[in-house]
Amino acid sequence: MKIKIKQGNIKEAKADAVVLFSYEDDSMPAKTMTEFNALSNNLIRKMIDAGDITGKTKEIQVIFLPDAQNTKRVMVVGLGKKNEADLEKIRGAFALAAQKARSMKLSSMATTPDMAGLDIPGELIAAAAVEGMKLGLYRFTAFKTEEPDNVNDIEELVIWSEEKKGTAKLKEAVAEAGHVADAVIFARNLVSMPSNEMTPKDMAREAIAIGTNHKNIEVKVLDEKQMKKLGMNALLGVTRGSREEAQFIIMDYQGTKGNEPPIVLIGKGLTFDSGGISIKPAENMEEMKTDMAGGAAVMGAIMAAARLNIPRRIIGLIPATENMPGGLAYKPGDVLKTLSGLTVEVISTDAEGRLILADALTYARRFKPAAVIDLATLTGACIVALGENVIGMMGTDQKLKDRLKHAAEITGEKLWELPLWEDYCEAIQSDIADLKNVGGRPAGAITAGAFLSKFAKDYPWVHLDIAGPSWLKQDRPYTPKGASGVGVRLLIQMLKNWSDN
Ligand code: BES
Ligand code: ZN
Ligand code: ZN
Repeated sequence: MKIKIKQGNIKEAKADAVVLFSYEDDSMPAKTMTEFNALSNNLIRKMIDAGDITGKTKEIQVIFLPDAQNTKRVMVVGLGKKNEADLEKIRGAFALAAQKARSMKLSSMATTPDMAGLDIPGELIAAAAVEGMKLGLYRFTAFKTEEPDNVNDIEELVIWSEEKKGTAKLKEAVAEAGHVADAVIFARNLVSMPSNEMTPKDMAREAIAIGTNHKNIEVKVLDEKQMKKLGMNALLGVTRGSREEAQFIIMDYQGTKGNEPPIVLIGKGLTFDSGGISIKPAENMEEMKTDMAGGAAVMGAIMAAARLNIPRRIIGLIPATENMPGGLAYKPGDVLKTLSGLTVEVISTDAEGRLILADALTYARRFKPAAVIDLATLTGACIVALGENVIGMMGTDQKLKDRLKHAAEITGEKLWELPLWEDYCEAIQSDIADLKNVGGRPAGAITAGAFLSKFAKDYPWVHLDIAGPSWLKQDRPYTPKGASGVGVRLLIQMLKNWSDN
């Protein structure tokens, strides 16, 4: 989808459809609507009066403009109550319009932030339009050999502005939103890929390609021999049961000439989690190809950081491996000596995420980071606690937690903090080692976080458990079911706001 900014009145647009909003309590919120109503020979007004247009969210009406020379149709999308309108609803509304347009085989769309009649700055509305449309149209077709019904996705979106001086701002916002959406789509694609096509080496290859295509990103990949030399025995323990070689991916984005300490992002890169010897039940096991969603989000965020020229050094660390029950697999009862020196008794080989993250968290110390954030599809318990659509947050630094909360409010990703009181560490005491990797059923998401906290030393740290929202079972407004790319927008928003406070 090409996105253009044009200066002028949107009535000049030559589009298959123009997108306009209507509210439950304000059916014609701006002059744009009045003008298109005139072009429709008052049909829009009549539809409002007849109750065909109510302004309720998720309502969309397509009105054909019989005599119009330029635009052929108007799509009136409901946005609910006017004083409750926000960017999240706007993203959803544009996703709905785009999906409708695709189902009608339309190829060009137009809109203007002015039509919303809201106090929200036009560039934010335009950015939400781009994100909503691009993300709402996403589908994963890599393995479809037959073309889907409507292959011709929307080719063009033109955003109009009557004010000349506003167009530069709009251009910048729209370009940024495009990069961010592309990064989310990149992450969704990686997560959607089956594990036979997205092995640890494939992940490393994707990271290296990002490095090749962005001049400020350097990528280094450690192989098992190098991990062994360093002493990453937790990661090596997890990978023993697999025939695929583990990879420790390091992406180093240098966006500043300054020497400030970097921000380290760590992503769990479990390309398939069978559970290992503590094998998972067969039902839904196919979903465990998504256990690298944290790693994919980190890769996407670093890529977008480079495209947005974020003025920071940002390092991505992705321990990538399979968890398989091969003949050499690590076993319950085994003791692993982690990179930090702490020993861990393995209770369940299915609690493997915290083991590979332990070594990555320790590795992060060498960068003397200003902050470390890890993203991981870590526990089913987090889904039990918060539901499928919510990121569970734990951490040791209030300011960093606040940064993430604030970013999540802007991006619409739902995030909720769980406590990390010292008491939870009792559950992970082992009789024979320093720690054990499972703390029992109570507070399973938190005891996993408590385990990680033993390795997240010497820097501000936050852990995000994305087990729920990384893979949607049902469509959401601009996230079709399947891989969501959760975390990408959150991280970028946080990085963009970093120097604000
Ligand atoms: N990858 C899973 C967690 C998960 C579950 C992600 C559902 C996405 C959806 C993780 O490695 C795991 O198996 N965790 C165990 C931990 C338990 C053994 C302490 C779990 O949650 O059951
Ligand atoms: Zn597991
Ligand atoms: Zn896992």
